[in-house]
Amino acid sequence: PKLLKIAVIPGDGIGLEVMPYGVRCLEAAAKVFGLSLEFEHFDFASCDYYEKHGDMLPSDWKETLLKFDAIYFGAVGMPDQVPDHVSLWGSLLKFRREFDQYINLRPCRLMPGVKSPLANKKPGDIDFWVVRENTEGEYSSIGGKIFEGTDRETVVQETVMTRVGVDRVLRYAFNLAQSRPKKKLTSATKSNGISITMPYWDSRVKEMSSSYSDVSVEKYHIDILTAHFVQRPEIFDVVVGSNLFGDIMSDLGPACTGTIGIAPSGNLNPEGKFPSLFEPVHGSAPDIFGKGIANPIGMIWAGQMMLEHFGFSEAAAAVLKSIEIVLGRSDLEVMTADMGGKGNTQTLGEAVEKEILAFKK
Ligand code: NAD
Ligand code: IPM
Ligand code: MN
Repeated sequence: PKLLKIAVIPGDGIGLEVMPYGVRCLEAAAKVFGLSLEFEHFDFASCDYYEKHGDMLPSDWKETLLKFDAIYFGAVGMPDQVPDHVSLWGSLLKFRREFDQYINLRPCRLMPGVKSPLANKKPGDIDFWVVRENTEGEYSSIGGKIFEGTDRETVVQETVMTRVGVDRVLRYAFNLAQSRPKKKLTSATKSNGISITMPYWDSRVKEMSSSYSDVSVEKYHIDILTAHFVQRPEIFDVVVGSNLFGDIMSDLGPACTGTIGIAPSGNLNPEGKFPSLFEPVHGSAPDIFGKGIANPIGMIWAGQMMLEHFGFSEAAAAVLKSIEIVLGRSDLEVMTADMGGKGNTQTLGEAVEKEILAFKK
């Protein structure tokens, strides 16, 4: 079987607490399904590393990480230690851009045993994918500051959309929609107010839709789209959006499924020219760091997405099934506090690991 080389970067805060269970669950899957996974751990891309070395990454980080198929990533950011834009632009955002991980794929699914804050929702009612543009858009380094310190102080940060950048994320989203039973794509826009980039985005959606006649396409302005996430989540199948809109939708969506603590993501370079990066959607959660109560499911599910991405479909299905079985029991002694439980990272992480190890092929 193919060897998968994985760089493990826990980062900061609860990234350090959930990562061990992510790795253990992957090792359990490897054992049951006879996969060869090789892990190497790194302490860079953390605020502690920054305080020691004056930078988030070593100068040879790119050559180092290029030797791996995938990066398994926890979370970065300790705003009391290092300003967020410094730590994030110096690590995660650098990986996404320099490794051309132009797709950020984020499932949003109401799991059995997890209570949605929306009334009367059951598993199946909320089940869609957010496809987020991940290398350009509103996250741009073009801009600056003038007249600093005066009453004319002005800051500008440009949104960048390129034909290649927009088309490749749309194509990915159309293909994903085409592979799903509902075959429905929703595009997030704001072309009423943002009058140059967003109409451009819409025009590319329209142009591409002509080559996907079997996919039904809807567009909503992002403001009402977020309202529909809450009031009619059943209408969504695949939702595509720019970098910032995708970021917001991928916290709001999982919040509608009970907690952002279970949501995973794949930062994909689909061509495999560079390593792809798999991480939970959530951040380092300094408010609960050190208590051992972080929900490890987002981290574990991100590992599941990694297995799926590299074609280990059977093992991936088993990990997802194991997550569903454990959550489905709704055992409050095992579940973490964000899902109303009294358990902790360890009880939940080990329950999933145990379920994977017991999996009957
Ligand atoms: P956050 O996701 O870290 O936390 C938001 C809230 O959700 C907090 O109350 C937290 O306790 C809770 N939460 C998050 N994950 C949880 C889990 N697994 N289990 C239980 N509760 C969980 O977002 P934030 O507070 O905006 O950001 C904190 C830091 O993390 C900042 O430095 C931010 O820039 C960074 N951040 C990093 C990433 C990333 O590395 N991908 C993502 C988001 C935020
Ligand atoms: C995410 C995070 C990052 C983003 C931050 C930490 C820069 O919120 O992965 O969703 O905005 O992309
Ligand atoms: Mn986010």
